[in-house]
Amino acid sequence: MGMSALYGEADDAESIATIHAAVDAGVSLLDTGDFYAMGLNELLIRDALRARPGSRDQVAISVKFGALRDAAGGWYGYDGRPGAVKNFLAYSLNRLGTDHVDVYRIARVDPAVPIEETVGAIAEEVQAGRVRHIGLSEVGAETLRRAASAAPISDLQIEYSLFSRGIEAEILPTARELGIGVTAYGVLSRGLLSGHWTRERSPGAGDFRSRSPRFSGDNLDRNLALVEALRKVADGKGVTVAQAAIAWVLSRGDDIVPLVGARRRDRLAESLGALDVTLDDADLAAVEEAVPADAVSGSRYDAGQMAHLDSER
Ligand SMILES: NC(=O)c1ccc[n+]([C@@H]2O[C@H](COP(=O)([O-])OP(=O)(O)OC[C@H]3O[C@@H](n4cnc5c(N)ncnc54)[C@H](OP(=O)(O)O)[C@@H]3O)[C@@H](O)[C@H]2O)c1
Repeated sequence: MGMSALYGEADDAESIATIHAAVDAGVSLLDTGDFYAMGLNELLIRDALRARPGSRDQVAISVKFGALRDAAGGWYGYDGRPGAVKNFLAYSLNRLGTDHVDVYRIARVDPAVPIEETVGAIAEEVQAGRVRHIGLSEVGAETLRRAASAAPISDLQIEYSLFSRGIEAEILPTARELGIGVTAYGVLSRGLLSGHWTRERSPGAGDFRSRSPRFSGDNLDRNLALVEALRKVADGKGVTVAQAAIAWVLSRGDDIVPLVGARRRDRLAESLGALDVTLDDADLAAVEEAVPADAVSGSRYDAGQMAHLDSER
């Protein structure tokens, strides 16, 4: 996402080099949304994979669809009607230059369309061979159950990190009961929990973080104090803050895949270092003492976007 939109200036050449470095390092999942820069992120992935013959088969491509945008870049809802699903997918396949998407999911539930109809339309695309697996994004436990009763669901993509632990109460146990894997995004809380964010860094108007309650005012000060507490634990282990934050998510279970939003090769290298970090029971206790489960200040989206989250009902 951040390679094309929502986190300020992006550099296509560095983004493509980062994708190549990721594939070379064995990263096997690329996640996108057809609405990230209105299709440009899919074209970026196409160009990166084309430049490396054979790489398409080395990665699973996960695509979110359904968000409706206007010409000014605004957002005006979600469309999960079966006919729209087929249309969105046809465009994505064309932009990605591939004959199938590995995981396909609506980004947010369309309140006007029963989830059974949306996943049913994706199931038809599975039958046709154009989609391999059906996913969901930011849905709550009840929607997970309804969707899973209509079609086989492989994966739920949802925010999960030391700062965002809301899924632990009900959503994660339900996914586990239903045999649905979790792709955790925002593992670094969009950079806030990376150890690289500072009070002085001021995101531009087009940057999601300029509107995020967690990056604003007193919330930012309180949240950065938590990061400094985590830094002490990370320093003691000889790892970086970002590596500790990713390793914590990795420690939550083999059914949870951390989806890290590295935009540059140096950030990618740092985050891959988390694969070599093992947190034992004492480390986990220290991490959770530094960042207690409910300690973060501010909601994870602004009020308007929170209203679209089925997972927060
Ligand atoms: N399903 C959904 O609703 C949803 C929502 C959001 C995202 N996603 C998906 O999840 C992916 C990851 O989300 P995210 O980018 O918000 O999460 P993230 O991994 O928490 O944040 C990534 C940001 O953290 C900063 N960062 C600092 N150190 C880093 C390091 N060592 N490695 C990587 N990043 C570091 C970078 O910002 P700077 O480059 O500015 O320093 C980077 O853009 C997205 O690309 C998107 O595909 C899904």
